[in-house]
Amino acid sequence: MNENMSRKLHFWDAVWDLQLAQCPCDVHFCDWLETEKITDASIFHFGTGSHHVIGIRTAENGSNNCVLGITASPGEYESFVKLAIDRPDVEKSYKVFFGDIYQLEKRLLPEFDVVTLFHLCEFRDERNDLYGALTDLEVATMLTELTRPGGYIIFYTKSFAFDTAEKVIAVWETEQQVEKVGLYETLLVYRKTG
Ligand SMILES: C[S@@+](CC[C@H](N)C(=O)[O-])C[C@H]1O[C@@H](n2cnc3c(N)ncnc32)[C@H](O)[C@@H]1O
Repeated sequence: MNENMSRKLHFWDAVWDLQLAQCPCDVHFCDWLETEKITDASIFHFGTGSHHVIGIRTAENGSNNCVLGITASPGEYESFVKLAIDRPDVEKSYKVFFGDIYQLEKRLLPEFDVVTLFHLCEFRDERNDLYGALTDLEVATMLTELTRPGGYIIFYTKSFAFDTAEKVIAVWETEQQVEKVGLYETLLVYRKTG
C-alpha cells in the first residue's frame, strides 16, 4: 500500500442502488417498522445506499419517524444532496452524513430508538487500523449505549459477512443489556432491556 494513501479515510468507492434480490435489508426494515407500528422514533441507519429507501418511505408513511443515516460513499452522499434539494419533505426527517462508521464520535450523537447494524464486519479492514478506527464490537457497543432502554438494535442475517458478525454479536450480547426478539424476514432483532 502507498504510504500517503494509508493515511486517508477508508471510504467506499462505489454506489449502491436498490438491488432487492441481493440486498433486501432496507426494504425489510421499512416493512418491520410498519408491521411493528413503530412511530415517533429516531433511527440510526448504517449504509444508506443511493436509493435512500428508508429515508423516503419513512417520510412518506405518516409514521413521524426520523432517520440519521451514514454513508462512506461519496457518490451516495452526492445522491443524498440531490434528494434533499429535490425533496424538502423528505429532508425534514431524513439526514445523511458522510464518514467512516468506525470513526463515530459518541459525543456528537443523540440517543436513538432503533439502530441498524446491517453491514457490520463487511467493510472494516487494516486500512481502518492505520488511523486507529473503532472495531466492529466497539461500534456495536457505542450504538447500543446510545439506544434508549426498550429500543431496538437490528442485524442483517444475509450480509456476506454475517458469519463474522455473528461472532461479534455473540460477545456483544454477553456484555450488553439486550435480549433477542427474533427474526423478521432477513433481519435479526434485539431489544435493549436496561
Ligand atoms: C452494499 S451497500 C448497501 C446499502 C443499503 N443498506 C442496501 O441494502 O441497499 C453498503 C452500504 O454501506 C456503506 N458503508 C460501507 N462502508 C462504510 C463505513 N465504513 N462507514 C459507513 N458506511 C459504510 C456504503 O456507503 C453503503 O451505503
